[in-house]
Amino acid sequence: MKYDSSTARLVAILRRTIDGMRPGDRLPSSRELMRAHGVSPVTVSRALGQLAAEGLVVTRPGAGTFVAHTPATRAETADLSWQTVALGDRVVNDSGMSAMLTPPADDVIPLSSGYPNSTLRPDRALANAAARAVRRPDAWAIPPLAGVPELRRWFAAEVGGDVTASDVLVVGGGQAALSHVFRALAAPGTAVLVETPTYPGALACARAAGLRATAVPMDQDGVRPDLLAEAFAITGARVFYCQPTLHNPTGAVLTMERREQVLAIARAAGAFVIEDDYARYLTAGPAGSVPPPLIALDTHGTVVHINSLSKILAPSVRVAGVTVRGPAARRLRASQLVESFFVARPLQETVVELTGSSVWRRHIAAMSAEIAVRRDALASALATHLPAARIHLVPPGGMHLWLHLPSQVDEERLVEDARQNGVLVSPGRFYHPSEPPGPHLRVTHIAATHVAELTEGVRRLAAALEAQTTRG
Ligand SMILES: Cc1ncc(COP(=O)(O)O)c(C=O)c1O
Repeated sequence: MKYDSSTARLVAILRRTIDGMRPGDRLPSSRELMRAHGVSPVTVSRALGQLAAEGLVVTRPGAGTFVAHTPATRAETADLSWQTVALGDRVVNDSGMSAMLTPPADDVIPLSSGYPNSTLRPDRALANAAARAVRRPDAWAIPPLAGVPELRRWFAAEVGGDVTASDVLVVGGGQAALSHVFRALAAPGTAVLVETPTYPGALACARAAGLRATAVPMDQDGVRPDLLAEAFAITGARVFYCQPTLHNPTGAVLTMERREQVLAIARAAGAFVIEDDYARYLTAGPAGSVPPPLIALDTHGTVVHINSLSKILAPSVRVAGVTVRGPAARRLRASQLVESFFVARPLQETVVELTGSSVWRRHIAAMSAEIAVRRDALASALATHLPAARIHLVPPGGMHLWLHLPSQVDEERLVEDARQNGVLVSPGRFYHPSEPPGPHLRVTHIAATHVAELTEGVRRLAAALEAQTTRG
């Protein structure tokens, strides 16, 4: 069974239509397209949006959609090969990342993606908060460079312990935080230790900063302290990147005993620990069901803590608080200033408005309940329909389950066959900084439209695995 996207189909048809037209010609109206091709208004608007993004058409509100005057083929015909020479070999490797941010085609079930389904987003509360934010005095002026004071105070209170607002730097989301932190804390060419598996976006950032990502194995209780100590000794690394709470992709939560050990080991190595606390608000139970952040145990300025709000609120809430002390704080602030000045003030003020309203706690509670239901539904569908895949653990929150596949499975082919069958899953190899120890998948419960889709998604995945097994 193939689930070709109706949008992709319409795009292909319109491309052919445009080929036979002249610049400035008007395309059929949306209504005509809907009637002629039997598609919905959403499909038409997505298709036209894609063609506009490619520069093939221009849309004039009220007038219609027209074939663009600048042929989009110019880039193909012009000789731009000089750029290849000019750019040299400094490739930025984004494999695994663009797929994470691309919306799925129609009829395809996303058991992938790093963000909750749009139906779970507090869009109305965000719109109200943004409306209030832009009415604040000086909303469009330069904010205090390290962040709006109310927001810095809020982030500090969230971290707890003896952290104060002056320890917080507001940056443009978790990904930007990783990029700043890697660049600020480690010199190009040096090693950075990472859990394996780990978040591919962190690997990409580390590599873009010229760092060598060295894998430290983990088990169900998080990173293995014995191997962490050994890795520090062998590599001389001064940075360890980790997600101690609801780790992506495995869901592991570092035990309290290991938290103390990790801090002691990093201190002995004279190294920083970057704590990516991306899932702080994504617990399946009450907030206390996961340990407080690692930084709450740290009195030596060892931990640099990142708290991003994009998962719990919306991907476009590109706001994160980085808690960092000592000379590292000065370096990080300088890095942000040089690279991007500051985070847009209306966005910061929007977060202040939203987190200061009663919606914030209510939204977290609603998400927790949703996460518990979806996690259990996905685990149960996997046990029923895909028993060959072993669930690493059922975590107390987060968005994903990590699957160990039988060793003979061709992971890459399975992901592609699953896509053809109408379900997207994330290939395990992207999560390993070095050789993957075997075939794995990350499956996500939070991006699907509703719980029933999870079972259907697993069925489609199981059918793809079954077909591979039968083919041999
Ligand atoms: C572990 C982890 N850290 C950081 C990020 C970056 O997210 P954002 O930039 O939206 O905060 C992601 C996104 O998927 C993630 O999974």
